[in-house]
Formats: sequence, C-alpha cells, structure tokens
Amino acid sequence: MLPVRLSPWHREEGTMARVTEVKLFNGREMPMVGLGTWDIEEEALQVALESGYRHIDTAALYKNEAAIGGVLSGWLSQGRGAREDLFVTTKLPMIGCRADDVTKFLTSSLKKLQLSYVDLYLVHFPAGLKGKDEDDLRPVGPDGRSVLDVDTDLERLWKAMEEQVDAGRAKSIGISNFNSVQIERIMKCCRIQPANHQVEIHAFHQQKELRSLCHKHNITVCAYGPLGAPYKDEWTKQQPPLQHPAVTSLAARLGRTPAQVLLRHLVQLGIVVVPKSSNPERLEQNLRIFDFQLSDEDMRELDSLDRGRDGKIFIFKNVYLGIENHPEFPFHIPY
Ligand code: A2P
Repeated sequence: MLPVRLSPWHREEGTMARVTEVKLFNGREMPMVGLGTWDIEEEALQVALESGYRHIDTAALYKNEAAIGGVLSGWLSQGRGAREDLFVTTKLPMIGCRADDVTKFLTSSLKKLQLSYVDLYLVHFPAGLKGKDEDDLRPVGPDGRSVLDVDTDLERLWKAMEEQVDAGRAKSIGISNFNSVQIERIMKCCRIQPANHQVEIHAFHQQKELRSLCHKHNITVCAYGPLGAPYKDEWTKQQPPLQHPAVTSLAARLGRTPAQVLLRHLVQLGIVVVPKSSNPERLEQNLRIFDFQLSDEDMRELDSLDRGRDGKIFIFKNVYLGIENHPEFPFHIPY
C-alpha cells in the first residue's frame, strides 16, 4: 500500500478528494493523478482545477499550451493557489529532437504557458522529425509519409535537456515512449537522470518489464491512456478495459466506477496516471481514488488482464507513416 499524504492545498480544502504524490529521485513530488489534456478544452481545465487537480500534463504537440496558460494565469492571478501548488508537465515535440533546438522549444512552451518554469519537461518521443518551422509539428512529405530526421542523437539531446534544469526552465526532466535500450543509454551518459518515464499503460498493456527497469533506476512511471483510451477506433473490434467483466464486477462489488477501479489499480502499483475527461462528473471521480484500496486478490485479478504487446492501443506507425524506419523507433524490440 502506498503512503497516503495529503497535499497542502487539499488539507486546507478539507473535504476535497485526497491526492497523493510520488517522490522523484531529486526529492520533488509529483501528484499521482494528473489531467491529461490532449483534445481537452479550457472549460474542462477550469473544472479540473475547481475539483482539485493540480497536476496538468500537456505537450507542444497538443497545441493547447496557450489555452492552458490562459486558464492557469487566471487561476493564479485570482489567488486561487500558488505556482508551487501546481505540477505542470510539457513535452519536447518530435521536430525539436535536436540538442540545438531544446532551449528554443522549451522557451516557446513556457511563453505560451505563461510560466517561468515547468515542473517536468519530457522528450515526447525518441525519434526526431524534420519540420518546416516550429508549428509544423507533424511534418509529412508529398508521399504522405513522416519527414524523418534520421540524425537524432539521444545522448547529445539529453545534455541539452540537462541544461534546461541548469537554466531553471525545468525542475525535472524525463522521457516518454523510450525503450529499455534507450533508457540504459540515457542512464549511462546522464549527469541529471530522467525523473519520470511516460508510456502507454492500462489494464491490457501493463508494461511490467519496462516498469521494473524504471524502478531499478529510480525513474518514476506515468501512464498515458490509463483508461485504455476508449475513444480509439481499435475498440470497435473489441471490448475496452472499462467494459471488461472483471473490471465492471469488481467495480459493482466495491461500489465504485470501472474507471476508478482501473485508475486505483495503477496508482496502487505506484504508477502516476493522467486520465483525461471533459466531463465534470468523470473528472471528479477520476480524482477520487485515494479513499479506497484494492485487496491483494483484486490486484492479482487486474494484473491478469495484461495482454502484453497485443494490448497496445497507440500504434505510432499508423499515425506517423514510415516512423518505424527511423533508427531510434522504439517499438522494434519487446520492451
Ligand atoms: P469523456 O471526456 O467524455 O469523459 P484515457 O485517459 O485513457 O485516454 O481515456 C480518456 C477517455 O476516457 C475520454 O474519451 C473520456 O471521455 C473517457 N473517460 C474519462 N474518464 C472516464 C470515466 N470516469 N468513465 C468513463 N469514461 C471516462
């Protein structure tokens, strides 16, 4: 069972859902439930802040940093909370995967977010693309295929990430969608280690080996798509985790919702989750997962839903055509 700690802002608010944090290697704390903001509108963020969310996960790629910055700056200027109460993550886009470009991209993200620093800056994906300009975030050639930057140098890139900490633009740095070999390479060359690794994790794709490698290196893990991304077309052919009978019956027995059971399972494994929702009720229920716990038997049952690689839902090569030909494409090896 994870230690449950009340955040200062929740202690004050008393009845609010309790949010716990994980400690990063550098002693900083990251709230275990954050708001995933891909495709999320300003109103949802406003509602999320009202509900008690303090961890916001965005990316240059989501093209919503300016909107998020507007909401956060309003919230801060109204005295609703202090900057230290928030944990804001953003990510270096694939077109910025070059050492010389990191400062430019983070500076641009900070300007849009109206912040002087982010709590966590992640390399969004280990394979670089060549954009025409800063806004060409998903560059595609005339043949419809992604324009690859095959010269991605992850070791040099990481040095530039470390410089963002030195310069105070990021409190912590991390990675996303890296494989085990790439993690080992970063661990070998780093002066400041990755604090967090954000990857697809949900009941059907639990990433046990990758998590155990991260654990060995004291890299915390954050799950994107923790509910199994039910909006994905892949689920038209099969049942998403939210509807799996083991999940729905466990939820009914505990008097919880299937989403709460799925999120609690991950959080109880020590994984940070960034579910997204535009619905006020669902936003609130996704945060309310610290006032119950799953038994060892319930945990084992949920563990057994893992389908390994077959459970993967985010298939990058279907979205970024040809990305699998990049020398740093991370998914050619088992994990
Ligand atoms: P909605 O915005 O209508 O709530 P993931 O975080 O795994 O990518 O999943 C996000 C999707 O899951 C969104 O489509 C969201 O839809 C839906 N969702 C979020 N929270 C819940 C919940 N508590 N119950 C059911 N569906 C949810």
